[in-house]
Amino acid sequence: MLISPKLMKKKRNEMRLLGAVQISGASFFVYKKRNGKISLKSGKEEKEQKAVVKRMLGLNPTIAKLLERYKIKPKIDIKTLKELSSGHMNDTCRVAMGIFSALSANLKKDISEKTIKEASMLHDWGKILIPSKVLNKPAKLNSKEREIMNMHSTLGYELLKTQGINEETLDLVKYHHQNLKHSGYPAINAEDHIQDIGVQIISTADKYSALREARVYRRRLTKIESLLILYKEVLEGKIHKDIYKALFEYASKYDKAA
Ligand SMILES: [Fe+2]
Ligand SMILES: [Fe+2]
Repeated sequence: MLISPKLMKKKRNEMRLLGAVQISGASFFVYKKRNGKISLKSGKEEKEQKAVVKRMLGLNPTIAKLLERYKIKPKIDIKTLKELSSGHMNDTCRVAMGIFSALSANLKKDISEKTIKEASMLHDWGKILIPSKVLNKPAKLNSKEREIMNMHSTLGYELLKTQGINEETLDLVKYHHQNLKHSGYPAINAEDHIQDIGVQIISTADKYSALREARVYRRRLTKIESLLILYKEVLEGKIHKDIYKALFEYASKYDKAA
């Protein structure tokens, strides 16, 4: 089939979504054009962002199948993505970078700072497709709701895998709720190469960041309370002791709030 010059030009400049960042209090979506140029789109252009995510949905039929399993209609919640990008994912990124820099060179030799940064900024992207009555339920989730909620890491992976993001980053998005015992979710696919240290950095930063935030069903926990809860996970074999040590070092130095 012949492609017109106009369509060719359009295809060349087609943009790939790299993620979302927070700049001067506003959320921005980061795109990379085929010609290599990086472009920022303001968070105000919600209609356009919705269209981008809709296109992402269309690129991977697995997403529709996952949603069908629970009879969920794909409703794109840009507001949630903006809040997560500027709040929780941004904070997780800060903690993850803190853990990364406090780790010994030997432990982090197989993982790059760029991968940790990207994965922590993108890890909860899948929540954009979780129905708000589940995502924002002000009480304990029942078992079906829990199953739906737990799909967010796989949904995020499936959404982002068509966007030219590197495999290591994608695996960290998919397994950011896994732990050292591999008893988290989703179950580890035998073909995937799990980068335990990378997963540990993201998942520990994610947990610490979540505990330090108020949720609809609980108050914000103090630094000591949060560190104690995570220390219990070290004793249970879910968190690597050196990752915990690095988190402790980061929190003691830089988390100044009570
Ligand atoms: Fe998550
Ligand atoms: Fe998270």
